[in-house]
Amino acid sequence: MACCAAFRATAARLLGQLGVLAVLWLAVAAHAGPFENTIAQRTLACTACHGEQGRAGPDGYYPRLAGKPAGYLYNQLLNFRDGRRHYGLMTRMVDVLSDGYLMDIARHFSAMQAPYPPPQPLASPPAPEVLARGRALALQGDAGQRVPACVQCHGERLTGALPDVPGLLGLPQDYLMAQLGGWRTGQRRAHAPDCMASIVQRLSDRDAYAVVSWLASQPVPAGAHPAAERPTLAAEWAGLKCGSARPPGPKP
Ligand code: HEC
Ligand code: HEC
Repeated sequence: MACCAAFRATAARLLGQLGVLAVLWLAVAAHAGPFENTIAQRTLACTACHGEQGRAGPDGYYPRLAGKPAGYLYNQLLNFRDGRRHYGLMTRMVDVLSDGYLMDIARHFSAMQAPYPPPQPLASPPAPEVLARGRALALQGDAGQRVPACVQCHGERLTGALPDVPGLLGLPQDYLMAQLGGWRTGQRRAHAPDCMASIVQRLSDRDAYAVVSWLASQPVPAGAHPAAERPTLAAEWAGLKCGSARPPGPKP
């Protein structure tokens, strides 16, 4: 039966990951003697899923970490630790870590400069009018539906903005869809006020699929990096505020 085959495949994959993790933790532990207590060593287990240098996992779901704004990565690590995002295997690795340590990890991955692969062909290519609708939402928004353009916050080139807005290019379609779905159902939350939660409530399922399909089929521009600051929101969206954690203070 298809359901059970799929379930077994997922279970096997998860067990495989656990095996990889166990081996990695053991490998790290085995270094006990001359163990270099560097951040690169301490984040070795993360790259089992997030890929070498955090440049994204091989199976199209594990998101890239390399080069994302440190404030964004820090907010996400807090979100997993404090229950605003959920992924059990990962949460268990971060739930004992302090704010300062999570910021060190965020800065480590943010500083990585790894090239982006070309976009993966979409599993079932959407019709041209769906892609055109997605592009219009990303670049112009839809004032009638009260949906602001994604570029208003995610940067003119959609490559993110410092300190805490992520880029939207170079991410798999499945991952993007799951994130919008997560905001819709409350499974993913950001620091209050949660602007993305408000935006997602205004997107129909069809529009969410359109914008995600367009985003996932765009190449990442060469030398992409987050804009130096968040773009100024057009006056009509000024009420849409996005929360963020305060960076941890100096270590005691
Ligand atoms: C077992 C696999 C696995 C391991 C190990 C793992 N992660 Fe993750 N990580 C994931 C998955 C899957 C997601 C996406 C979850 C979701 O759908 O929200 C994720 C999401 C993230 C995100 C959010 C990315 C974004 O763009 O929003 C960050 C940051 C992150 N992980 C950091 C880490 C760090 C740091 C470590 C090591 C301490 C780590 N991960 C270890 C699987 C893993
Ligand atoms: C008012 C500002 C704003 C606008 C407009 C906006 N976003 Fe966002 N978006 C954010 C912020 C801030 C975050 C980071 C939230 C967090 O910390 O979890 C984010 C995160 C995301 C993420 C998660 C990325 C990841 O790596 O996990 C997706 C997907 C996303 N936005 C899609 C969109 C789409 C699609 C649009 C246009 C329809 C859009 N956003 C418009 C501010 C905005």
